[in-house]
Amino acid sequence: MTRVVLDVNGFFDHTTGARGLTRERVVGEVDRARRVLIELAAKRAAGELPFFDLPHDAALRAAVHAQADRLEARFDRLVVLGIGGSALGTRAVLDAVPRSAAASSGGANGGKAGSAGRAGLQVDVLDNIDPAVVGAVLDGIDLERTAFNVISKSGTTAETMSQFLIVRERLIERFGERKARERLVFTTDPEHGLLRQIASEEGIETLAVPDGVGGRFSVLSAVGLLPLAAAGVDIEALCAGARAADEACSRVDVWSNPAALHALLLALASQDGASIHVLMPYCDALGGLAEWYGQLWAESLGKRLSLDGEVVETGQTPVRAIGATDQHSQVQLYMEGPRDKVVTFLRVLDHGRELVIPHAYEGHQALAYLGGRGLGELLNMEQRATELALAAHGRPTSTIELERVDTESIGYLFHLFEVQTLVTGGLWNIDPLDQPGVEAGKVLTQGMAGRAGFEDKAAEVAEMLARKKQELVLG
Ligand code: PA5
Repeated sequence: MTRVVLDVNGFFDHTTGARGLTRERVVGEVDRARRVLIELAAKRAAGELPFFDLPHDAALRAAVHAQADRLEARFDRLVVLGIGGSALGTRAVLDAVPRSAAASSGGANGGKAGSAGRAGLQVDVLDNIDPAVVGAVLDGIDLERTAFNVISKSGTTAETMSQFLIVRERLIERFGERKARERLVFTTDPEHGLLRQIASEEGIETLAVPDGVGGRFSVLSAVGLLPLAAAGVDIEALCAGARAADEACSRVDVWSNPAALHALLLALASQDGASIHVLMPYCDALGGLAEWYGQLWAESLGKRLSLDGEVVETGQTPVRAIGATDQHSQVQLYMEGPRDKVVTFLRVLDHGRELVIPHAYEGHQALAYLGGRGLGELLNMEQRATELALAAHGRPTSTIELERVDTESIGYLFHLFEVQTLVTGGLWNIDPLDQPGVEAGKVLTQGMAGRAGFEDKAAEVAEMLARKKQELVLG
């Protein structure tokens, strides 16, 4: 297993000085985290947290492989239609893995990544409804050689269903109704929702998102596994990485459980004013993972009500930054701005390739010191220097060090972050699995778009728009 380690020295006073956490304070809080772990273990055992068991589900992977084989036999390209949790995990892996796989095979998406044994389809993820992008992707594909994976747990998400309706019409125009259906696979609820109903009525291929697995916790279900397997990503290695994290994150001793300890320290930092959590990979390939994490952390923890119904308005705003690029953009703010941030670095030991900086201009000290260093080596020095400089300014940090970016280490991070999110939800006494706040915007859209039964929402929109003052609209 590719080594992944969490270094939390940057939270403590021996690193950041008087503003840091003392060991005594953390010791005093550890029991709370331990209780949350015990509650989560009990819920898991009762089948209430099925996402935990996804990486252990060999039958699921067999079904995914069979579907991916079927697609590969007939198509060159797979377009994913989905949004939020139905898209971001797949994107994160496709961003991260091709680089390490490309060297070995060089096929679509960098080609076969590991033992999946597939050359891999080109996989595109259409996660928005920007007409310029959707139009360009659809105009640029060979419909004859393309399949579409419509992913929606609810089966009603406006963005995904709109994409589906556009694609469906194009397919029917070209191939007729029956043959159009052969180009579709739905990933949706096993029983409920409109997509499930359409699939049953029209005989469309499906895979299920298990009950109790919400979008942002679904990357290791068929939601992520089918497009990834189709792309040639080694989903066995991805799940093996998640299982390794599961082992570490199941330890009841909080001091040796990376998810629980990180959750506790982030919660304490939040209590001390860190309302922003920056995830900063020093590696371009992990940018998609930071996007996925942003959704997980924001949607799971941003909650108005506690489990007891008290108004708590919890949350920690996730920010994605990339090292070293954002050293020349964001880091000034992190170093000297408001003390409202905690930064987690993702540090990669082996970048898979090294480029050595040539010796030149030896008489110029400002250049000479670079000669003979590798770019990856320099990147890692810059990460360390930023971490230490933040510590010197009394700013909290943590560092997750990956031996390399590969499918195993990405699987590990998925599971680690998911459990860390659940533990934080437990510490804050909120439900990290729901998202009631997202509904408010959805119903207003449905009112505006004229959905039957949403007339009151249409009136609400009209009334709110009428309140706008024209003198405050400038041009
Ligand atoms: O994490 C979540 O639950 C959300 O981001 C959903 O994934 C997103 O809203 C899409 O929902 P659905 O899968 O029902 O189309």
